[in-house]
Amino acid sequence: MARVIMIASGKGGTGKSTVATYLSHELAFKGYRTFLTELDMGFRSIDVISGISEMTVYDVGDVLDGSCSTDKAIVASPHTDKLHIMAAPGRKSGVKLQNLKSFVDSIYNSYDYIILDTAAGIGEVFEAALPVSNMAIVVATPDAVSVRDARIVSDEIYYGGIKDVRLVINKYNKDTFRHSGFADGDSIIDACCAQLLGVVPNDEQLHLSAMTGKPLTSGSITKKVFSSMVERLNGSHVQIIVK
Ligand SMILES: Nc1ncnc2c1ncn2[C@@H]1O[C@H](COP(=O)(O)OP(=O)(O)O)[C@@H](O)[C@H]1O
Ligand SMILES: [Mg+2]
Repeated sequence: MARVIMIASGKGGTGKSTVATYLSHELAFKGYRTFLTELDMGFRSIDVISGISEMTVYDVGDVLDGSCSTDKAIVASPHTDKLHIMAAPGRKSGVKLQNLKSFVDSIYNSYDYIILDTAAGIGEVFEAALPVSNMAIVVATPDAVSVRDARIVSDEIYYGGIKDVRLVINKYNKDTFRHSGFADGDSIIDACCAQLLGVVPNDEQLHLSAMTGKPLTSGSITKKVFSSMVERLNGSHVQIIVK
């Protein structure tokens, strides 16, 4: 039975889709059967980041509508056969999000992890993903506005019934952190009130990989960060890498 994780944020552009994709890669590389879909209607990006844009014909909107079978819309990752991906709807409106629960139920026994990449804030996608998830990851960048908004989202998730809420601090840069308004990482954790899962560096190479649908560079610090997040997700007490 799958662990269903919603990826959320307060502000847009914090890196939800990027984190969702590379976390899914590392889960799959470690042998977990992983399903990744993006629910940011009309603003798809996971197809590009995960290198499946050329292979995508149908999307999760078509599946929720019942206009296409799940099998047709699933694309296997070009980087690992343990990862199955379904692109976000190419349209903004008319997606039958009310069918998300029955869709997730239908694939629940086929995967170890189901990753639902949502849209920023607490709109209809957030509301649809919350009741079908049993865990959440909130992605924030290290700045006052992003962290404040992450706290709002984190509280909404908690009061919505998910008690396991983890924080990913993304685009961390040790040289500019002093301008963040926070004394240290612990102050961000306190402000967000969520357990820290990982700190992802601001990494130009990651950005290039994401824009060209490539996996993270083997042996890179950023890849190690994602790999250690998977270990933490699975209960290992590995140290947080901060670079
Ligand atoms: N750790 C990072 N280092 C450098 N660039 C990043 C990082 N994380 C995300 N980005 C870039 O930030 C932009 C927004 O990321 P994206 O994942 O689409 O955000 P969201 O899904 O929250 O809107 C993209 O151009 C992406 O490549
Ligand atoms: Mg996104």
